[in-house]
Amino acid sequence: MSSKSLYIHTIGCQMNVYDSEQIAARLSAMGYEQVSGPEAADLIILNTCTIRAKAEQKVYSFLGRLARLKANRSDMIIGVGGCVAQQDGNKILKRLPFVDIVFGTKAIDRLPAMIRIIESRQGPVVDIDLEHRQPASDFYEYNEQQSAVSRFVTIMRGCDNFCSYCVVPYVRGREVSREPQKIVEEIKHLVNTGVKEVTLLGQNVNSYGKKEDLCSFADLLSRINDIDGLLRIRFTTSHPKDLKSDLVGCFGHLEKLCRHIHLPVQSGSNAVLKNMNRKYTRELYLDKVAKLRDTCPDIALTSDIIVGFPGENDSDYEKTLELIKQVQFDGLFAFQYSDRPNARSVDFANKISEAEKKNRLQHLLAMQEDITKKKNQALVGSTQTVLVDGLSKKEIADRPKAELLPEQWAGRTSTNKIVNFDCDHNGQDRAAIIPGRLLDVRIEKAYFHSLQGKPVTVDTAAGDVKGANCYAA
Ligand code: 5AD
Ligand code: SF4
Repeated sequence: MSSKSLYIHTIGCQMNVYDSEQIAARLSAMGYEQVSGPEAADLIILNTCTIRAKAEQKVYSFLGRLARLKANRSDMIIGVGGCVAQQDGNKILKRLPFVDIVFGTKAIDRLPAMIRIIESRQGPVVDIDLEHRQPASDFYEYNEQQSAVSRFVTIMRGCDNFCSYCVVPYVRGREVSREPQKIVEEIKHLVNTGVKEVTLLGQNVNSYGKKEDLCSFADLLSRINDIDGLLRIRFTTSHPKDLKSDLVGCFGHLEKLCRHIHLPVQSGSNAVLKNMNRKYTRELYLDKVAKLRDTCPDIALTSDIIVGFPGENDSDYEKTLELIKQVQFDGLFAFQYSDRPNARSVDFANKISEAEKKNRLQHLLAMQEDITKKKNQALVGSTQTVLVDGLSKKEIADRPKAELLPEQWAGRTSTNKIVNFDCDHNGQDRAAIIPGRLLDVRIEKAYFHSLQGKPVTVDTAAGDVKGANCYAA
């Protein structure tokens, strides 16, 4: 099998990251080796996102770049997959004739066959069959080249909720859950390759298994919690309407479940929530938050907000700000509303101007920045158990370069906060700081995006980390 080079460019959510790993595994079996840039690649796969207008713009601007590349490399194969591919299908080929393959969100298994068609010069190919059922073998493919401390595991795909602004049900199809034993098998395999933390992915993990009558999400978490060698479990995303007491209870008794939940609220106004078809009220959301905090007092909460939904007036917006003040989220992802193809809200009256949406977003983000900084600041002086990930990649925001230590490492707290720490503790070297270890770090400084600290006690002789918990508490 001759070696050919592959460049995969992923835009969008964690599910796309997982899908790109699945694509890489299938293409590696065809002899394609991944390279770090598109210039010299024989095959380029662009995995796309269309959740908001900006994501879609990014896709088409990257494709513009690829057009220029292919102008000098006619033998290069270009495949466009994911949500924009699903949404636009044939239109992509009409608009961009240099594209060879358009494959939708359920066509990953069939990608190798499509590539063979192009290799034998019989293209182009479009496959956006959304009704296609996953083969009995399930969609997971092992990629032996991948190794990491933390990995994503998709447990379900699609969504049945039809929030009025959202394109997901149209591009990812109806909700389908994987069988629990397949998920457990996949995680056990990952653990055998050194993985210590998994993040379970689904558009609405709280409704996992319901349609197929498999097992509840809480039961699934419990089974994953029993996997030897796994240290931490995370999941995303939860829909507030489906967050029930059994799942809340998991934060009280599953020792590997990290103390963080991403619970998108979208708006603090009941009128807007109704128009969004979210099927919960502000009061119900606040009640769920209270229950989570009763069960796990220091649980970290993050959320998504849309500003400028059609018809959102000043008073609706104020209610969102009030809710943010009340909940005190650890972090927020906030977005300006944008019309998406097929979404019901496209036809809603009283659209908000771009300028007003921008104003609202900026104000809201500034308010949240203060809250996040204050919450992070409160951790200064505390000791946090972090899962060591590797050398820190980014410089810390707001921190002068000169202050950066040569051995800057990074990990995350159970509450999902990034902690950077230096390894030069008491003159000892970094032998004891190993990716995948849990390590106690005393927090010394807090920033908006991260914390900075020092390992508590490093005992290199024993090759272990003293004072560090051996669980993910
Ligand atoms: N406009 C703006 N934001 C959107 N989101 C989803 N659809 C839209 C849209 N049409 C946001 C929601 C969702 C997050 C992933 O993206 O906040 O939770
Ligand atoms: Fe979109 Fe709503 Fe489904 Fe989330 S729950 S993916 S916002 S339709």
